[in-house]
Amino acid sequence: MDSEKAITVTELTKKFGPVTAVEHVSFDVARGEFFGFLGPNGAGKTTLIRMLNTLLRPTSGKAFVSGCDVREEPGEVRRQIGVVPQAMTSDLDLTGYENMDLYGRFYGIQGRQRRERIKLLLDTVGLSARADDLVATYSGGMRRRLEIARVLVHRPSILFLDEPTIGLDPQSRRVVWNFLRKLIEGDSMTIFLTTHYMEEAESLCNRVAIIDAGRIVVMGSPAELKAGLPGNDVISLLVVDSSERLLSALGNMPFVHAVTPEENSLRIHVDNGAMNLPLLIDGVRAAGAEIVSVSVHEQSLEDVFIHYTGKSIREEEARKVSFLVGAGIPQKLGR
Ligand SMILES: Nc1ncnc2c1ncn2[C@@H]1O[C@H](COP(=O)(O)OP(=O)(O)O)[C@@H](O)[C@H]1O
Ligand SMILES: [Mg+2]
Repeated sequence: MDSEKAITVTELTKKFGPVTAVEHVSFDVARGEFFGFLGPNGAGKTTLIRMLNTLLRPTSGKAFVSGCDVREEPGEVRRQIGVVPQAMTSDLDLTGYENMDLYGRFYGIQGRQRRERIKLLLDTVGLSARADDLVATYSGGMRRRLEIARVLVHRPSILFLDEPTIGLDPQSRRVVWNFLRKLIEGDSMTIFLTTHYMEEAESLCNRVAIIDAGRIVVMGSPAELKAGLPGNDVISLLVVDSSERLLSALGNMPFVHAVTPEENSLRIHVDNGAMNLPLLIDGVRAAGAEIVSVSVHEQSLEDVFIHYTGKSIREEEARKVSFLVGAGIPQKLGR
């Protein structure tokens, strides 16, 4: 076992009857790293995180968290980690302080030390002034911040967060992001997070594993993953009729790296999109096509996902979210 590693996972697999939720997943997380699992709903993120948190037994494969085997030493793993599950779990009928206090008592942290840590943490998440208000009166973002602060009371060395900003408005999401960034700067904490928001993975994580249908599709820093794509910008082009002639004209432009037809538009990977857009438009018109709309954007992790899976996280989400209703699968169904 490499003790420098916060997490080591080898060929981890989880099956629920006929469904393989996580399939031969292997990766390492170094201490102090901010590591993200990015993928659409149903990709296997919660299943993976629950195995690492000793809440679900792997079907096969190995996982070590802080040097301890999740199967053999679950108690030791639990002492080392803080876990913020996807669904909100703070008690609405207690105050913010009381929620923290109860949690600290579960971990056997003694009187004065417990009070001091709670005060400090509430201050860090900007909730000191609301500490004695019932959680029922908190906004979603405040509640989330409280829940993150709460799992830090026993000073875990690894923090696990399952979709920490799901359902939050953009402003609360940013407040949570800033707080998580602060956490990792100060301490020797390791953070493992899952998300289906590419902006979240991109803005927070040193390293990201992109997961789809239980498998890791690709892994690396956001910059490496984007550098692995052809070109550096994407032009989305909507034309009245995309003919063979148009496709070959685009393919012959020196700054075009790849053209992928989508449902009703073309994704064109190019160098320097802003500069080359006028040339592209001229070329499209010369090929006899009529342009309906055109847009340029810098490549993002969304483009990485599309490149490797042929589909977009946003589309996957739109399709699945209606029946998964945000909080995911009821976890009591299987173990
Ligand atoms: N307890 C369970 N029993 C049966 N199937 C499950 C259970 N938990 C998850 N699954 C299935 O495993 C797959 C991955 O689910 P999950 O890990 O919740 O994905 P994510 O968190 O990425 O949305 C899905 O197909 C889901 O239906
Ligand atoms: Mg989930």
